[in-house]
Amino acid sequence: MRSSVYVLTPLAAAIGALASQPADSWVFGNSLFYLGPPSGNAHITKATYSIVPPSVPTEFESASDEPWVSVWVGASSTAGDQDANLYQPIFNWSPDQESQGCPASSEEWCVAASTYTPSGQLGQSYVTVPKNTKVDFEIAVINSKVVQTVTMKGKTVSKETDALDSPLQYLYSSNECYTGAGSCGNLAGYQITNLTVTLSEADTKFDQVMSLDSVTDSTFKSTDGGITWHTDKIKVNSIDFDSSDDTQVQ
Ligand SMILES: *[C@@H]1O[C@H](CO)[C@@H](O)[C@H](O)[C@H]1NC(C)=O
Repeated sequence: MRSSVYVLTPLAAAIGALASQPADSWVFGNSLFYLGPPSGNAHITKATYSIVPPSVPTEFESASDEPWVSVWVGASSTAGDQDANLYQPIFNWSPDQESQGCPASSEEWCVAASTYTPSGQLGQSYVTVPKNTKVDFEIAVINSKVVQTVTMKGKTVSKETDALDSPLQYLYSSNECYTGAGSCGNLAGYQITNLTVTLSEADTKFDQVMSLDSVTDSTFKSTDGGITWHTDKIKVNSIDFDSSDDTQVQ
């Protein structure tokens, strides 16, 4: 599995008026949610959610060094620090899936439980996601370990258990593309549904640290006084990975 951006040094590129984003760079879609940290001593002990992956990217430019697109929700003790683990079960797609170790056709996504650690990316083998299939995810802290479970049609298809480096304080979504020698094209919108986040202790103000960046949320709320938080749906917008209006380059 290829490592995520967290292990790469930022690209020192002169950004002018770009027709497309520069080759060999990591591009992040600007439609995402960011949740955390909870107040007091509370931390995140579990997150469950479902995603039907969007149709695969269009209008990309394939090249010898293939573009490579990721869609994920991840949990971490920090807001994106490279020194912390990021538990990030992940969808991946590339025009040549096999070149990335993914058995899917170019019309499908692959999925795998996966963890970024400062010493490298850990992950399970890719599993094909048949078109229009809902994938259920669970990230759970159990006995100081983080267990990621990826389920399709009631069957566990990928599972990974890693040490918990530090209590989880953040949960956030991302879509990103490595441009390779080509370009990433357009990613259709998609929904993160049935999101439930469980805290170690009640935080009645946890909704105040839910930030929505160009996504819509149906209503993030708790019905048990702040331990369990739920929203039916977070809608992520389509992204033109080649447009600097829709993306940030790292
Ligand atoms: C939502 O997720 C819960 C598990 O957290 C599950 O029991 C429930 O069936 C899911 N609801 C839908 C509509 O998928």
